Amino acid sequence: MVTESFNLVRTHTCGELRTKDVDSDVVLMGWIHRVRDMGSLIFFDVRDREGVTQVVARDDQKVLASAKKLKPEFVVAVCGSADRRSPDTINPNLGTGEVEVSASEIQILNEARRPPFQIAEDTPVSEDTRLRYRYLDLRRPRMQRNIGLRHRVTLAVRKCLDALGFWEIETPILTKSTPEGARDYLVPSRVQPGKFYALPQSPQIFKQILMIAGMDRYFQVVRCFRDEDLRADRQPEFTQIDLELSFATPDTVISVVERLVQNIFEEIGCTIAVPFKRLSYAEAITRYGSDKPDLRCGMLIEDLTKVFMDTTFGVFREVIASGGSVRGFTVKNAGGYSRREIDELVDLAHELGAAGLVWVRIGRDDSLQSSVLKAVGESTLRKAFELVCAGKDDLLLIAAGEATATSKLLGDLRLVIAKKRGLLDPEARAFTWVVDFPLFQWSEFEQRYVSMHHPFTSPREEDVKLLEQSPERVQARAYDLVLNGIEIGGGSIRIHDSDLQRRIFKLLKINDEEAELRFGYFLEALEYGAPPHGGIALGLDRILALLTGESSIRDVIAFPKTATVVDLMAGSPSRVDRRQLKELHLREDT
Ligand code: AMO
Repeated sequence: MVTESFNLVRTHTCGELRTKDVDSDVVLMGWIHRVRDMGSLIFFDVRDREGVTQVVARDDQKVLASAKKLKPEFVVAVCGSADRRSPDTINPNLGTGEVEVSASEIQILNEARRPPFQIAEDTPVSEDTRLRYRYLDLRRPRMQRNIGLRHRVTLAVRKCLDALGFWEIETPILTKSTPEGARDYLVPSRVQPGKFYALPQSPQIFKQILMIAGMDRYFQVVRCFRDEDLRADRQPEFTQIDLELSFATPDTVISVVERLVQNIFEEIGCTIAVPFKRLSYAEAITRYGSDKPDLRCGMLIEDLTKVFMDTTFGVFREVIASGGSVRGFTVKNAGGYSRREIDELVDLAHELGAAGLVWVRIGRDDSLQSSVLKAVGESTLRKAFELVCAGKDDLLLIAAGEATATSKLLGDLRLVIAKKRGLLDPEARAFTWVVDFPLFQWSEFEQRYVSMHHPFTSPREEDVKLLEQSPERVQARAYDLVLNGIEIGGGSIRIHDSDLQRRIFKLLKINDEEAELRFGYFLEALEYGAPPHGGIALGLDRILALLTGESSIRDVIAFPKTATVVDLMAGSPSRVDRRQLKELHLREDT
C-alpha cells in the first residue's frame, strides 16, 4: 500500500527537532527504524541521514490504522506537531531526545522487504552480507558518519589547496601504463583492433606534463587503479589526493602537506602540531625495522654488536665474523614475564623468520636470567642491559644476523608485542616523514635495479656522478609520510632533464627502444622547457580509516571490493557476451 501521489514538503530532517521547535507543525520523511505497538498507542522511530526522531500515533483511528502497517525500513512521511517529552521519557542519547512528534497523518511512501540484518550500529553481520546489501549497510549510522566525513574531508582539501594556489585538473582514465609497481588494468579498444588502454595506477606522468604546460600548481582528488594483492589498507581502485608544484624543493612540498593535514584533521576537531619529525630511511630501518615506523610505542632497536665482540657464544661470534650484527630492544616492565610468555615470543620470532631469539631479563630483585646465561656470561649480558639503558623488571630481546634483515625481524616482533601490550594508542597522531631513500633497490627476482619509488624520482644532485658506478649509494629526493605506522603518502622532486631521465631508464634496464615506446611522448615533452618540479600523493582512503578508527579502508569507501576483487552487490567482474568480445577483437579462452 504505497502512496501514489506524493505532494508533501519536508520541513525538518530526522535529526533536527529541538525544544525550540515545540508546538510547530512538522513534516518528517525517512525510514522506519523501530516500532513499539502498545495497542492504543504506537511509538515508532523515523530515521534519515541526520538522525532519528520518535513519533507517536494515538487517539486518531485513521493514524493508528496507518501506524499498525509500519514495518522496519518502510519509507514514510509523517505530518504532526512537535511536542515536549515529559521529563521521565527524555532520551539523553538522542539529539532529538527531548521532543517527540504526535502524528496527524502517516503516508507510506514505499514498503520494504524484511532486511537481512537490522539497520543498527552494532548488529553482528558478516562483511560479505554487508557488501552484498551495501545500500542497507550504508544506512547504518556508522557508515553514514564515515561517508559524511569523507565528503567533508575532500571539501576541506579542495578549499585548502585552492587557497594555496592549486588548480584541480582532471587527467585521463583511459590512458597508457604509468609504472607504480603494480599490474595494470587494461581496456581493449574497439576502434583500434588489438590495442589497449591502461587505467592509471596514478596520474604521475600527466601531472608532470601539466607542470611542463605551465599550470604551476596542480591537484586532483583522483581514482587510481592497481591490480595487486589486496590487504585491509589496499583496494584495486582507491583515491589519491594528488599534487604537483613547479619550482619546488622538498621543503615546499612538505610544508604544503603539513598545512593540508592540519586542515584535514580539523574536520574531526583535532589540532595537529607541525612540523612533523623527519627520519632518514636508514634510521627508520635501523631503529624501527621498517620504512613505515610506528613511533607510538618506544622499544627502539639498538645495535649491541660491540658488547658481544669478544663473546665465545658461537652464534653471535659467527654472525659478527661474517659482517652481521647483534641487535635488540627492551620491553619495559616485562621482567616478570612467565617462561610460557617468553617461549611464545621465541615461537613468534621463529614464525617471523628468525633463526633464534635470545632473551635476557632482570627481575625486580635485580637477579638476571637469560636463555644464554651460561654461553655468554652474566657480566656481558649486564653490559648489554646498560647499553640500552634497561634495568630492573625489564626484558631484552636479541637477534643476530644480517643487519637489515635482523632489524626488520625485530621491527615486526616489536609491533606484535606493542599491540599485545596495548601500547598502540589509536588516539595518538604519530606523524613522521621518512626521507633520504635510496633511489634504487636490487631485485633478486628480476636481477636488476628497480626504483624504490618510481623512475621519475630525482637523485640528489651530488649523487648523480655515482649513478653508473655505485647505483646502490645514490639517494633520492623522495619523502614518504607515515602516520601511526601506516604510509599515508609518498612523493619526490622529479627529474626535469630528459638526458638524466634517459640515463635512469637505462639503469633500470629499460632500453632506448622500449623507453621510446612507453615514454617517448614524455621524454619529448621534457625537451620543451620543463621547470624543476615535485609533488606527492596522499592516500585518501587510508587517511579516512585513520580518522574514523576503522581497521579497513573498505569501511570508508561507499562501494569497495572484497579481498578477491569482487563487487558482491553488482556482481562484477562478470562474463560478457560473445558479440561484445568480438567487437573488441577478443576471443574467449575458457
Ligand atoms: P604511491 O604509489 O606511494 O605514489 O601512492 C601514494 C599513496 O597512495 C596510497 N595507496 C593506496 N591506497 C589504497 N589502496 C592501494 N592499492 C594503494 N596504493 C597506494 C598510499 C600511498 O602512500 N605517483 C606517486 C606519487 C608521487 O610521486 O607524487 C604514487 O602514486 O597511501
